[in-house]
Amino acid sequence: MVSIVKTVLLGLGNVNQRLLKILIDKKDEIAQKHNLSFKIVGVVDSSGIAVRTRGFDYQDLINLKFNKGKVNELDCFLPKAPEEIANCVEADLMIDASPVNLKPNNPGLHLVKSAITKGWHVVLANKAPLVLAFDELHELALKHKTRLAYSATVCGGLPVINVLQRDLKFATLNNLWGIFNATSNFVLQHLEQGGTMEEAILEAQRIGAAETDPTLDLSGQDTANKLYIIMKSFTDFDGTIADIEMEGIQNVNAEQIQQAAQAGTKLKLVAAAFHKKGKWQLSVKPAPVAADSFMGSCDGWEMGIEVKTDLYESISMKNYEADPTGTSAAVLRDMIDLSR
Ligand SMILES: NC(=O)c1ccc[n+]([C@@H]2O[C@H](COP(=O)([O-])OP(=O)(O)OC[C@H]3O[C@@H](n4cnc5c(N)ncnc54)[C@H](OP(=O)(O)O)[C@@H]3O)[C@@H](O)[C@H]2O)c1
Repeated sequence: MVSIVKTVLLGLGNVNQRLLKILIDKKDEIAQKHNLSFKIVGVVDSSGIAVRTRGFDYQDLINLKFNKGKVNELDCFLPKAPEEIANCVEADLMIDASPVNLKPNNPGLHLVKSAITKGWHVVLANKAPLVLAFDELHELALKHKTRLAYSATVCGGLPVINVLQRDLKFATLNNLWGIFNATSNFVLQHLEQGGTMEEAILEAQRIGAAETDPTLDLSGQDTANKLYIIMKSFTDFDGTIADIEMEGIQNVNAEQIQQAAQAGTKLKLVAAAFHKKGKWQLSVKPAPVAADSFMGSCDGWEMGIEVKTDLYESISMKNYEADPTGTSAAVLRDMIDLSR
């Protein structure tokens, strides 16, 4: 028997549009292998909310956005603020793929809390709710017997959170390094090849990989957000995002890149976590890495992580993600995990 999962999509941008495409392509497989069918009963974009209890056609939503439409053009539009969706429809699951907003107590964070309070499971591609309220959201979910999943928030489709939480059980992290932001990695590669930062950002925006606000990519903030989420998910770290020393790549120039190359290194935006004197030292900054190292092998649209733990010595993994499809697939794997 196939269970219908009433689902709300928060955001209809790159990530959720590709999610809809995968839902179309894999509909039968999801039903046959997992006994699930995702019925989209509510959608939210910057214009507001639309609700259709009988369910939206996936392709109609893709077409709406392909034609630069907004949900306020739909006949089922409700003239309410986006954050009111949790009071406008009955659902089982919400997917948050709305833009990162790191302002404390922003309406989007309230919405995630309202969804949990209503007993909805929540899948996050948006990192902001976790960065602002990681513990609070987990406590709230426990209280309301609902669950949060967020494997898409860290390195897109690379299953960093799943591997750390599920497969490295009982291991204690000694240290980690990573390249967590494909846009800045692509920018650095483009500079290496003699291009400009502006050209690289335009390309990242064209393919849908850049953040809605690309300064989050370049400033190191997006990488810091991911490092924070990893640390909260896998270690005893009880600090805040402000404990991460952060420097971006905005001021990196061609001369620095050439100097790094002459020394047999590559300049990368590196996230690092080390234990020092019983405290975590966390940083995000441009740093030279040996060209022939694992980190040096992560180029352009690749992201990667190397972790050292007490039980598993060194584990490293990387992905190549030149568009958001891997992220959308990560959202789907979370949707399936939460709905089973
Ligand atoms: N793109 C990636 O590769 C990637 C990878 C990992 C994680 N993420 C995260 O996933 C999220 C979505 O990324 P994206 O690339 O899909 O972004 P995007 O293309 O910019 O789409 C954002 C969507 O959110 C809608 N929106 C704007 N304000 C809203 C609000 N207040 N409430 C609800 N929806 C609102 C936008 O509406 P309009 O359509 O009206 O503009 C748009 O549909 C971001 O948090 C990002 O950090 C993205």
